[in-house]
Amino acid sequence: MDQRIEESIKQLTLEEKASLCSGMNRWKTEAIYRFGIPSMVMSDGPHGVRKPKQDDDFGMKDVNDNRSATCFPTASAMASSWDPDLLFEVGEALAKESKALDVQILLGPGVNMKRSPLGGRNFEYYSEDPHLAGEIGAAYVKGLQSQGVGACVKHYACNNQEHERMSISSEVDERTLREIYLPAFEKIVQEAKPWSIMVAYNKVNGTYATENTYLLRDILKNEWNFDGLTVSDWGATSNRIEALKAGLDLEMPGPSPSNDKKIVEAVRSGQLDETLLDDAVRRILRVVFRSMEERNPNKEINYEAHHRLAKKAAAGSIVLLKNENQLLPLDVNGVRSLAVIGQMAAEPRIQGGGSSKVNATMFDVPLEQMKSHIVIEAKMAYAAGYSYEDEGDALAEALIAQAVQAARASEIAVLFLGLPDRFESEGYDRTHLELPYNQVRLLTEVSKVNKRVVVVLSNGSAIAMPWIGHAKAILEGWLGGQASGSAIVDILFGQCNPSGKLQETFVHQLEDNPSYLNFPGTDSKVEYREGIFIGYRYYDKKKMQVLFPFGHGLSYTSFEYTNLRTSSDYLQDLDGLTVEVDITNTGKREGSEIVQLYVNDRESRIVRPEHELKCFAKVRLLPGETSTVRMHLEKRDFSYYDPTLKRWVMETGEFELRVGKSSREIVLKRIVTVQSTDVVELKLTGDSLVKDWVASEEGRRIFFEVLAEEKMKEQVEHALLGDDALMVMGMPLRKIFYFDTERAVRAEEIVDRLLSRLK
Ligand code: BGC
Repeated sequence: MDQRIEESIKQLTLEEKASLCSGMNRWKTEAIYRFGIPSMVMSDGPHGVRKPKQDDDFGMKDVNDNRSATCFPTASAMASSWDPDLLFEVGEALAKESKALDVQILLGPGVNMKRSPLGGRNFEYYSEDPHLAGEIGAAYVKGLQSQGVGACVKHYACNNQEHERMSISSEVDERTLREIYLPAFEKIVQEAKPWSIMVAYNKVNGTYATENTYLLRDILKNEWNFDGLTVSDWGATSNRIEALKAGLDLEMPGPSPSNDKKIVEAVRSGQLDETLLDDAVRRILRVVFRSMEERNPNKEINYEAHHRLAKKAAAGSIVLLKNENQLLPLDVNGVRSLAVIGQMAAEPRIQGGGSSKVNATMFDVPLEQMKSHIVIEAKMAYAAGYSYEDEGDALAEALIAQAVQAARASEIAVLFLGLPDRFESEGYDRTHLELPYNQVRLLTEVSKVNKRVVVVLSNGSAIAMPWIGHAKAILEGWLGGQASGSAIVDILFGQCNPSGKLQETFVHQLEDNPSYLNFPGTDSKVEYREGIFIGYRYYDKKKMQVLFPFGHGLSYTSFEYTNLRTSSDYLQDLDGLTVEVDITNTGKREGSEIVQLYVNDRESRIVRPEHELKCFAKVRLLPGETSTVRMHLEKRDFSYYDPTLKRWVMETGEFELRVGKSSREIVLKRIVTVQSTDVVELKLTGDSLVKDWVASEEGRRIFFEVLAEEKMKEQVEHALLGDDALMVMGMPLRKIFYFDTERAVRAEEIVDRLLSRLK
């Protein structure tokens, strides 16, 4: 193939090469038939194939303008499964459907970090934690590509809000970029080799992502060795020549004749090096040819089987947030009367708005599924309770009154609540974390007449719950896709044991979020001033109360953690460490536990998060069964990014490994000692602090040598042992001499003498 590509590049005219760098239409790449270069089709993504019925249509006016496809749970749900195997399976199914619809690249997954819970597309993103997002995203990409359909990982980079998304500049420092906003992309590029990366609309530190040489060429292509193609988000290209120079290969959508012409002119005038154009063409052709080898349209798809997989995915993602007095699962045989309340029970919300919206093949309605679970004698009443549309007071109160009546007459009330479509969509952010007012009113009134209230939530991103005391049990159902209705009901009645955990922290109030003061920005800029402290990295460091911590999720069974052990407790420059822990199902039901491993640097030169998730594993156990979970840590898992040295640094010292059920429920701990070769050598100068001089072996020797010559040794040693120690340690070296009347006049000379003795 490489030879064919090189031959093509040699023979194509300059105009032809330029034309390949923009699409043929909204979804297809340009074809050049005289060279047998076909056109490749891309479609959204990520949680279902959204292929418009009309070839060149956006398909966004009405979801029915798209071909039907299985609607899997959205990203925030899927990540809550913490189950890479499940993501792989879903990826495979998505690829099969893509192929059947003659789609060669599926536009997903979206792996941007959830900086603020208000982000309009948070439902399309995986997590507030880069490790989780990277693992989950890599599994999705591997599954998809294992079937010969390319992934397009998006939106690179720092596209963490919808407000002014096409122009805003995300202002982010180097360490934060490397530790928080890039690692998910990095992991996926290195482990899953995606065919393409979608370059975001926004600017990063003042330069459009599409023109950002640092992000595209230096980091993505050179440092990470990404060999796929970069494609602009739809309409993200601004200056085509600058973008091409920076490493943006393909402009979408197309056609873009004026930009193609500019490319030709820029090469002719010497403004653009033709080898850069060749590199873009090479990358485009590599993916186009590869995708054609795999092309196999019109294959029959077993949509029933994919619906079953969508149900398995939804079930694995649902999080049991609260379960007072073990109200759940409901006893199928014991419940005599049940009130099912909420329009979402009859008309479920299964996905978010915008380009990812899939025309589902079928869908399960919770209310109908409930009916099939209730024993003959049980009475079931349904009341809408609220309407998706904001109703005026009179109508809203009437709906609430009907629901209260149903709840009063029932043993248990199950309320389906959540965010309506207009609250969560691509294109704009949320403005608050609350449920609609009418729903909260409804819950408050129902809880006055029924003490056994279960709330089932449908929302793509974290919400606040000032009403939490009104519900005995809460199930977070997310936007769970077309089969979520039956998955929820199976969990309510215990046919399935919940096993999801939160991929993002739920806070009590929006103001607690670390980005609160700097979201969504002003004057075309959004400053990421909280730096590396996003999500639990902030809450845990500040020991703040949260509503539900990162990694939280309950089960109908219980798990015991024992015997945490490591392959070694002392590591000389680390090349890997195996961590094992035994997990036992101590309850009465089969269930899965998500075991999380956080790393804490006990003492660090620089400020670091309290601890960071570095490994996790989901283990399924029968009652009484024990299994050993094995996890692996690498040097990078102990390191921070040093922006001055421009590399990752692992410090020598002690690290605590913390294994637990959430970031706040650490069950077992173990300390390991690391001896690193990444010595951060500070260059000693006259302005270096005394503590830095004495911390260095050579510096200390010279320092005391010169002090002795100056007859100051005793005096300084004395100070360093007494109350003044901290003050002296924190002084720049030359100031030591300034403070001594006699030496002050010779201070420069003494410092020069000191420096001259350094190697
Ligand atoms: C979105 C992308 C999407 C593309 C094509 C853009 O507006 O940001 O995520 O893949 O449109 O629909």
